[in-house]
Amino acid sequence: MNKVSVSSPSNIALIKYWGMSDAQRTLPNNASLSMTLNQCVSYCTLARQTSGTSDEILWKTASGSLIPAQASMRRGIEQHLQQLRQHFDDWQPLRIATVNSFPTGAGIASSASGFSALALAFALRCGQSFNSPDLSQLARLSGSGSAARSVIGGFVQWPGHPGQLHCPAEQFAPAQHWPLHDLIAVVDAGHKNISSREGHRLAASSPFYAARLTQLPERLNTLREAILNRDFDTLADTVEREAVEMHMIAMTSKPAIFYWQPVTLEILARVRQLRRDGLQVCSTVDAGPNVHVLCTLQDVSAVYTALRKLPGVEQWIFDQAGDGPRQLARHLF
Ligand code: DP6
Repeated sequence: MNKVSVSSPSNIALIKYWGMSDAQRTLPNNASLSMTLNQCVSYCTLARQTSGTSDEILWKTASGSLIPAQASMRRGIEQHLQQLRQHFDDWQPLRIATVNSFPTGAGIASSASGFSALALAFALRCGQSFNSPDLSQLARLSGSGSAARSVIGGFVQWPGHPGQLHCPAEQFAPAQHWPLHDLIAVVDAGHKNISSREGHRLAASSPFYAARLTQLPERLNTLREAILNRDFDTLADTVEREAVEMHMIAMTSKPAIFYWQPVTLEILARVRQLRRDGLQVCSTVDAGPNVHVLCTLQDVSAVYTALRKLPGVEQWIFDQAGDGPRQLARHLF
């Protein structure tokens, strides 16, 4: 297959991956659990390079033109390509174009969607099937652990067997099981100043990290059960507790990492109030200041009406649980 195009979504972690057991292989310390999104996607087209012997890595601008990708993005893609080439023993120079449907590097897991898209496109070009269990591992070769979850739709656990950290991610419920909505409050669309990778590295320096790891298996089971039973109250309690705890670990790492901004806290408080008022809504925050406001279809418009006027939110993105990556007939070049 010469030209391959795919879309791959971002995901929002409900139980966070925070801290690594093996930085070389991007293995976590704990099993994490996420909901794959539907609208926040990366597109990637990949083809054999016909002119020259080096890779060409391009970014599609809003006006539709293809320009060389920024240095930091190019470095990440080149490193991932190196791993993929070794895995498949396929060394042909490539032309690659990519673009995201949402702000890049702003805590909406653009690396999860971007690297899962690249892994998928590369694997398809090498003749792998779309449902290959290897895809999760191939995505994680990028160094982005959350990418290991983005190759699968619905509600996903990585690793699928919590005790076996090298295992791939697995779906435990499809998106249709509980099509939760995710209103993403973009508080700051710029790049976060401390990478998740640095956060993972520092996590164990928090005096509370060991206690977190002992509590996680039970929390994971509680959340899985809540999702399988569509039990919103338990989901809300577990997801909010988890987000606060991950950020508490970051804030008590040495040196401390603060991802939240005042508006982040303001939204978290408003969401708790809305829940007290009877709406099915809760919130979570990945490694950045942006807030994912999760709610049921029945309450989504009431939640948005209550929150949309909040000063300090640059943009609201409407998303929901999604089915995962797709192969596309339309190419970026
Ligand atoms: C807080 O190392 O996967 O989002 O590569 O920057 O996407 P990126 O991060 P990664 O760490 C993710 C950290 C997290 C929690 C999570 O997604 O599980």
